[in-house]
Amino acid sequence: MTPAPTYTLNDGTSLPAIGFGTYPLKGEEAVTAIVSALEVGYRLLDTAVNYGNEAEVGEAIRRSDVPREDIVVTSKLPGRHHGYDDAVASVHESLRALGLERLDLHLIHWPNPSVGRFPEAWRALVDLQKEGLIRSVGVSNFTEAHLQRIIDDTGVTPAVNQIELHPYFPQAGMREADDRLGIRTESWSPLGKRQAPFTEPAVADAARHHDVTPGQVILRWQVQLGCVPVPKSATPERQRANLDVFGFELDEEEMAAITSLGRPDGRLFGGDPDTHEEQ
Ligand SMILES: NC(=O)c1ccc[n+]([C@@H]2O[C@H](COP(=O)([O-])OP(=O)(O)OC[C@H]3O[C@@H](n4cnc5c(N)ncnc54)[C@H](OP(=O)(O)O)[C@@H]3O)[C@@H](O)[C@H]2O)c1
Repeated sequence: MTPAPTYTLNDGTSLPAIGFGTYPLKGEEAVTAIVSALEVGYRLLDTAVNYGNEAEVGEAIRRSDVPREDIVVTSKLPGRHHGYDDAVASVHESLRALGLERLDLHLIHWPNPSVGRFPEAWRALVDLQKEGLIRSVGVSNFTEAHLQRIIDDTGVTPAVNQIELHPYFPQAGMREADDRLGIRTESWSPLGKRQAPFTEPAVADAARHHDVTPGQVILRWQVQLGCVPVPKSATPERQRANLDVFGFELDEEEMAAITSLGRPDGRLFGGDPDTHEEQ
């Protein structure tokens, strides 16, 4: 398998070009799946306070043979912890649950705009980065206006903006905004979750042409867009296939055909802790 390359983020740290999503894995199933993901070769893990599985992520890291320093551990600050002191306490609690001394990347999970305290949360993360408890600071589900607000406030640009991004919701505008600001885009639900467009001709034809799976075509499309997908799979075979997307290349027409699957109602809905109304 061709190994995943890494990107250098705007703070000088490096981020693998693909990661492993851990929601909704919990308990022993989560530990087993995450140990498997590390053994298969993932070096970027994506968890969140709201997933209730930070302890499992920490346990999997300790159980695996992969050195801790080779793994980029990402977690996320929930919308209910946006007050400055709440954010600081929340990060300390994440570190305790993970059993780690440092988070490699911590994101504001969503801006929670009706409460409007995300600038305070950002100041807290920036201060915790200065203290060395967080290596890179970033955000998730931020619009350009949210990004501009926290950059203007602190002079610190997020390293990453993790947004919903898949063929039915390709987010051209947000990708451009992130690029312009020097922010690396990460893609959540990168396959499109339960609505993954595996049978769409744009995807299925490319899969046949390159002798790969439809899932690999979608993840390769993500990589060629310059986005970092964090697919979740509890299945070792799928984990391996999802990571094995660096040995072929989609041509311009194939890329354009997949991007043109985007549609106005392409955004996903569901009962995730990520569903913003729940936070
Ligand atoms: N920041 C946010 O607001 C936010 C929101 C949602 C998600 N996330 C993050 O993004 C991660 C990924 O998103 P997601 O789990 O919603 O969606 P996803 O990764 O697009 O899809 C996961 C689903 O696809 C299946 N699957 C995985 N690989 C497959 C393959 N090669 N072929 C067929 N099916 C496959 C998985 O089932 P099996 O496990 O059975 O393989 C699972 O049901 C989450 O785990 C979480 O870390 C972040």
